Amino acid sequence: MLIVYYELMINAVAFAAYGIDKYRAQKNRYRIPEATLIGLAVIGGALGALFGMKIFHHKTLKPKFLAVPILLGIQILLAGFCLYSNLHIVVTNYEYRDENYTGDGLRIVQISDLHNQFFGIKQEYLLGKIRALGPDIIAVTGDVVDSRHTNYYLALQFFKGASEIAPVYYVKGNHELLLKSDERDRFFKELDELGVIRQWGVTETMGIRLIGLDDDQTEDDTLSKYTDGESGMTEILLSHKPEYYNKYKESGVGLVLVGHMHGGQIIIPGMGGLLSPDVEFFPEFYEGMHKIGNTEMIISRGLGNSVIPLRINDQPEIVTVDIKKK
Ligand SMILES: [Fe+2]
Repeated sequence: MLIVYYELMINAVAFAAYGIDKYRAQKNRYRIPEATLIGLAVIGGALGALFGMKIFHHKTLKPKFLAVPILLGIQILLAGFCLYSNLHIVVTNYEYRDENYTGDGLRIVQISDLHNQFFGIKQEYLLGKIRALGPDIIAVTGDVVDSRHTNYYLALQFFKGASEIAPVYYVKGNHELLLKSDERDRFFKELDELGVIRQWGVTETMGIRLIGLDDDQTEDDTLSKYTDGESGMTEILLSHKPEYYNKYKESGVGLVLVGHMHGGQIIIPGMGGLLSPDVEFFPEFYEGMHKIGNTEMIISRGLGNSVIPLRINDQPEIVTVDIKKK
């Protein structure tokens, strides 16, 4: 949204600047320098500048101002690319085979880091994608609600729609832990009424042992209390951050689903994700499936943004994991 506000502002300023300069020209007053007028078009205000030129019949015959429609074309292409990078959801499929799994196959759809991103009326663009994937379980790995641009209504729309598709298992991310406690408690009460399963700790369901770890439980020994190497079942952990990968490995869980990294915000081909939410450049883990000892860790790039309001070459992602016999 910050970018939208910026674009509205800079185009309004550019439009007004062309109008003011035309007025001053007619009154023989001090003029706005041409470099400023073109500069406003360069920094994102090309549409406002072009409207200003046409409506006020200003600078339309000056050769250097022919650059304005070219700048507009470039900005439209850039805007299209940014919209595609930020709003076009892709699905990444993984397969996890485990000798302890004895069922006929199970599909987990993982949703992470929605951060109050808008995906259509009633979040239907996102929910339609989830529905089409036919999940047995929807695993939500934190940061559905953003603590900076909080919108419980959007989050509830997502959870309501998701819980009508399949059982929803939800763990808190760092953002849910930063919310005002009274508002958060009210939100969680509404989730309980929707049937969203949260703070379950360990549950045995559909032939797996599903473990949920909230973000404030990752640094203590909660995980070791939840895991059970003697169970003879496939153990799958939902958590928020990949940085505890050593702990996950030591716990002996077979599969971990996490998010938090937002794909590094900007994915540079050949170099990877640029920046983690914890301000680490080119983090080792920013997306994908990673084998750490006997544990597989899948990192979702997630769907929304928080501090940095822009993704580049880092499309919002839904992860599916098909659990199969080995
Ligand atoms: Fe996040």
